[in-house]
Amino acid sequence: GDPRLQHISQSIRVVPHFPKNGIMFQDITTLLLDHKAFKDTVDIFVDRYRDMHISVVAGIEARGFVFGSSVALGIGAKFVPLRKPRKLPGEVIYEKYSLEYGTDCLEMHVGAVQTGERAIVIDDLVATGGTLSAGIRLLERAGAEVVECACVIGVPEVKGRCKLLGKPLYVLVEPRQVDQCF
Ligand code: PRP
Ligand code: MG
Repeated sequence: GDPRLQHISQSIRVVPHFPKNGIMFQDITTLLLDHKAFKDTVDIFVDRYRDMHISVVAGIEARGFVFGSSVALGIGAKFVPLRKPRKLPGEVIYEKYSLEYGTDCLEMHVGAVQTGERAIVIDDLVATGGTLSAGIRLLERAGAEVVECACVIGVPEVKGRCKLLGKPLYVLVEPRQVDQCF
């Protein structure tokens, strides 16, 4: 395996019972404090996508903005923010998605992508996949081709390449169960 992945994993702080009991929160702010971990994360994605003729990197608010915008710069693509409701000032299309309880929604500006553009969707973490699926639906409704989704962290069931609305999903590391670093 890639020796960079263990360091990336160890740079993620696990906060038990946040934001509620039973959740092992995967805190990527500590990854961002570690220049090598952050740079290696972005480099791995850039190396993967630079020659795939990707013109759109869509990042999911909020944590997907950090990785997505860096990857967009690295591969020479535009960055499209997929935002929580009522944040974007222009005309939007929206997709609702299910949470553990209730629903949430992502919005994308009309005109941000053109029909036929090749896109990737980036977020920090995939759990149920509901959030990424909403992102895929937004891009496809706008006529883009979603080539792959990419996350830093994914549960073992989705680690590596597997399917999400028929799209490949690329994940770097599994969620950490115990906090070994902080
Ligand atoms: C978290 C995480 C992913 C999503 C994954 O975001 O950053 O975006 O949940 O969950 P899923 O695969 O079950 O859909 P959250 O909605 O907590 O918001 P944030 O990124 O703005 O903090
Ligand atoms: Mg998020």
